Amino acid sequence: MLKIGNLKLESNYLLAPMSGISDYPYREIVKSFKPGLVFSEMIASRALLEQNKKTMKMIKRTDNFLSAVQIAGCDPEIMGEAAKICEENGADLIDINMGCPVKKVVNGYAGSALMRDELLASNILKSVTSSVKIPVTLKTRKGWDDNSLNAPIIAKIAEDNGIKMITIHGRTRCQMFKGKSDWKFVEKVKNSVQIPVLVNGDINSIRDVKEALKESNADGVMIGRGSYGRPWIFQEIKNNKENQFKIDLKEKKDIILNHFELNIEHYGQEIGIKTFRKHLGWYSRSLDNSNEFRFKINKCLDKTKLKRLINDFF
Ligand SMILES: Cc1cc2nc3c(=O)[nH]c(=O)nc-3n(C[C@H](O)[C@H](O)[C@H](O)COP(=O)(O)O)c2cc1C
Repeated sequence: MLKIGNLKLESNYLLAPMSGISDYPYREIVKSFKPGLVFSEMIASRALLEQNKKTMKMIKRTDNFLSAVQIAGCDPEIMGEAAKICEENGADLIDINMGCPVKKVVNGYAGSALMRDELLASNILKSVTSSVKIPVTLKTRKGWDDNSLNAPIIAKIAEDNGIKMITIHGRTRCQMFKGKSDWKFVEKVKNSVQIPVLVNGDINSIRDVKEALKESNADGVMIGRGSYGRPWIFQEIKNNKENQFKIDLKEKKDIILNHFELNIEHYGQEIGIKTFRKHLGWYSRSLDNSNEFRFKINKCLDKTKLKRLINDFF
């Protein structure tokens, strides 16, 4: 359905890379709802070179499912080396981050800052694509600000340097997360290259998927926040034609408990519980008495008690 280099994806809706969210446990949960591919959190290329335990855990391969690792950095050689390490550790695809707006990242001249230096961007892309055999993709924004909407130029540079797919978050760096993602703009990128282009930003429902694809003429969508507390959104999109996917509370509870177990296994008890609170907040959102539930779980640091609270609430 969607071809990225030599990879054939079953579907054209993908889970977005999200720091602090798209970790191994989350990717494991999301994969059961069959997105085309899941992306890791952004990983600093320098950290990858050190290969410490924490970083290697972040690139842990999602079992029996296509897995992409996203890397960030501003040194072409280090980015190439980092990509190699990811490939050696089972990544099916490398994604380059050229969209992160966070000060710490852009001040280090990485993330969306690279959009302002097309030569450096081109050197990074070249270095990464020539360092690995697996496909390399790029994720970026419209541009730095409204006066420099150069995503179509960056996309062409990327394609010329061997990049196999581009995702555009339809905001500028200076917008951060304000305003609305400009799906229409993505068409300009689509028209500038032959490789697949994905549209991203504010796609939270089947209707959004349809509108975003129509406006952008893109080849697929990438979904981030729309999957919060609702990893089955990918299944909902898939089943749209039949309109038959309905999740009941029992199924939801099983998914949550499974996610919780994976989180504890991955992070250990204390961090596993603390990092799971945000997910529980999203899973319980809009249900009766969710405020009271959140209040209780935010005080609980005991795995058995927390499981009981989840069981009782759902
Ligand atoms: C908490 C959070 C963390 C994010 N981390 C990353 C990241 O590591 N790499 C990246 O390219 N984008 C990152 N993003 C941006 C998302 O991938 C996506 O482009 C953005 O959220 C817009 O899509 P959405 O409206 O579907 O969430 C992050 C977004 C959020 C909300």
